[in-house]
Amino acid sequence: MPPAPKPVAQDYQPVFFPKRQGGAGAAGGPEEPRTRIVVVGHVDHGKSTLIGRLLADTQSLPDGKIESVEKACREEGMPFEYAFLLDALLEEQAQNITIDTTRIGFRYEGQGFEIIDAPGHREFIKNMVTGAAAAEEAILLIDAKEGLKEQTRRHGLLLSLLGVSKVIVAVNKMDLVDWKEDRYRQLEKEIREYLGGLRIPPREVVPISAREGSNVKTPDSKRLGWWKGPTLLQALLSGVGRNEAQKEGPLRLVVQDVYRFDERRVIAGKLESGKIRVGDSLVFFPDRKSSKIRSIEDWGNPDPVRELGPGRSVAVTLEEQIFVERGHVGSHEQNPPVESRELKARIFWLDTEPLRLQSPVQLRLATQTVEARLVAIDRVVDAEKLEQKNDAREEVGRFEVAEVRIRCRRPLVYDAHERVESLGRFALQRGNRLGGGGIILEAEYPTSLAKAVTGEHLTWTEGRISQEARATHFGHEGAVIWLTGLSGSGKSTLAVALESLLFRRGIASMILDGDNLRHGLCADLGFSLEDRAENIRRAGEVAKLMAESGLVVISSLISPLQKERSGVRSACHSAGVGFAEVYVDASLEECEKRDPRGLYKKARKGEIRGFTGIDSPYEKPEKPDLILPTSKESVEISVQKLLQHVLAMVRLKDEDRESGEGPGGQI
Ligand code: ADX
Repeated sequence: MPPAPKPVAQDYQPVFFPKRQGGAGAAGGPEEPRTRIVVVGHVDHGKSTLIGRLLADTQSLPDGKIESVEKACREEGMPFEYAFLLDALLEEQAQNITIDTTRIGFRYEGQGFEIIDAPGHREFIKNMVTGAAAAEEAILLIDAKEGLKEQTRRHGLLLSLLGVSKVIVAVNKMDLVDWKEDRYRQLEKEIREYLGGLRIPPREVVPISAREGSNVKTPDSKRLGWWKGPTLLQALLSGVGRNEAQKEGPLRLVVQDVYRFDERRVIAGKLESGKIRVGDSLVFFPDRKSSKIRSIEDWGNPDPVRELGPGRSVAVTLEEQIFVERGHVGSHEQNPPVESRELKARIFWLDTEPLRLQSPVQLRLATQTVEARLVAIDRVVDAEKLEQKNDAREEVGRFEVAEVRIRCRRPLVYDAHERVESLGRFALQRGNRLGGGGIILEAEYPTSLAKAVTGEHLTWTEGRISQEARATHFGHEGAVIWLTGLSGSGKSTLAVALESLLFRRGIASMILDGDNLRHGLCADLGFSLEDRAENIRRAGEVAKLMAESGLVVISSLISPLQKERSGVRSACHSAGVGFAEVYVDASLEECEKRDPRGLYKKARKGEIRGFTGIDSPYEKPEKPDLILPTSKESVEISVQKLLQHVLAMVRLKDEDRESGEGPGGQI
């Protein structure tokens, strides 16, 4: 059996579990599925005390630990505090370099939990980004006496931005407000309103006193007699089923390492979501090589297993020796992840040096690391003041949150955060320094994998000239401007005008015209819906290649079906090429009136069969990037609109040509 794998790379270390019987290590060994919790709140609201109390009440401390801390307190003449337990424990663990002090395990009612500690002070937000980047649940602490503080609100906002949507609020220090129900109710209302507004309504708002041990594990019927709800631990436990249910999503096997033993290759990784069974056919992204699972080995379990569920570290062997390496993601053929060089995300920036459009950063997602850059900033919110900033932005500053588009140098395998949390979350780094983090907002899932999967013996040759280098050379980016609309709607007229205007501005462009392509590349195709689909696929592939070479491609095809148009969009995005779907909107009546080539007349007479708009469908674009209503506005106006849209997409800003970064600041 190969050595146990390191954990999937996030910014955290292996799990800490003391190696003694009955201690926190009794939480079931390092591979037991655990619910990961992050505890956040204002610095003085009692986090260490709560963690100390959780460990003590669940008998997760090493034997004799409480007694030794009590003794130390007596000797120092200090009252015993549960917070000291945690400190003492962490200090002891810190001596042992093989374990990490930022992840603490405990077990309650047969369920393993793990607290990802996010310490206070200056490092707080940084650790929260990395700590919360793996958390499934959060406990937000509020001091019953102090109430909601600015920091409480900010942590709430951060949880929502980082996608930790399962929140339990603990109203702590109830002893300091004489265990009064009205005070609890008042805070409950305030926090529910606030978190509700952030779209992370708390699962429970639980009154506790961590110091007194009230309602953490044991209900306090004497002093909190009015409370009929769960204890904090019961509330945590009731979330577990939900987490497990959620993890039963599409299969995502994140590859961590591949070990070779003689002829055998063992793929070690983590099942971030979904289930695998022996005999399942797996597809590994980004190469899309596929093979069946020959065997599954579960770490710590001596017998081979036939099936394994989510949250587990796992090793599999495959029937065929396909090339798989760290960073790859295995999936079933159904419900594959997205593989694209572009993503839409919400990021949170921490570094003192702002993140500028086009400046390079490393994006780390599961075990993948790719070089990336921001290509658009759509919206910015100040996380300290919680205000939306409406000015057009070229950079994201410290403590700002922004909705952005990111382009990667190589295809990245990911999911929308809503669909698979761990594949929809990433960190942004500059060198070894964490710059920020983010979650993926939208993902365009492929409709079919059939084509890519069949090319098992193909490889991809990567050239040495990056798109950035090409863009700098030409002074603009390549892009695909996809005009769609009925025959006679004005696509060709607009394409020709746009091409000249771009050319005059030094922007290299080229028209791809449907009629023209049908003279050569697509001469074998007719007008059935299948042939049109193939026509559009080919035109889309050509457009993409030309745009990759640096040109602005203006395609002018009826392209009547949404599915095919979306296919071209995702092909372009996979290649890191900007794509705009432009709907040239003229009504059928108007087009028929124009009928420049008399085709509608012929179609009406039945001389042309399957004519778009007459006896063949045209689906209006669902979400076009631009609509040009050519029956309502002049050609000049439409052309101007189109030109402005394209210039905004492809023009480089002056500072984009600068290379390198300015001096970076530490957090
Ligand atoms: S698409 O539907 O596959 O996108 P494409 O843009 O390539 O169509 O070709 C459309 C052009 O082919 C029209 O402008 C017209 O000149 C010509 N054409 C010939 N037959 C048809 C038809 N049945 N439907 C639409 N266009 C036709």
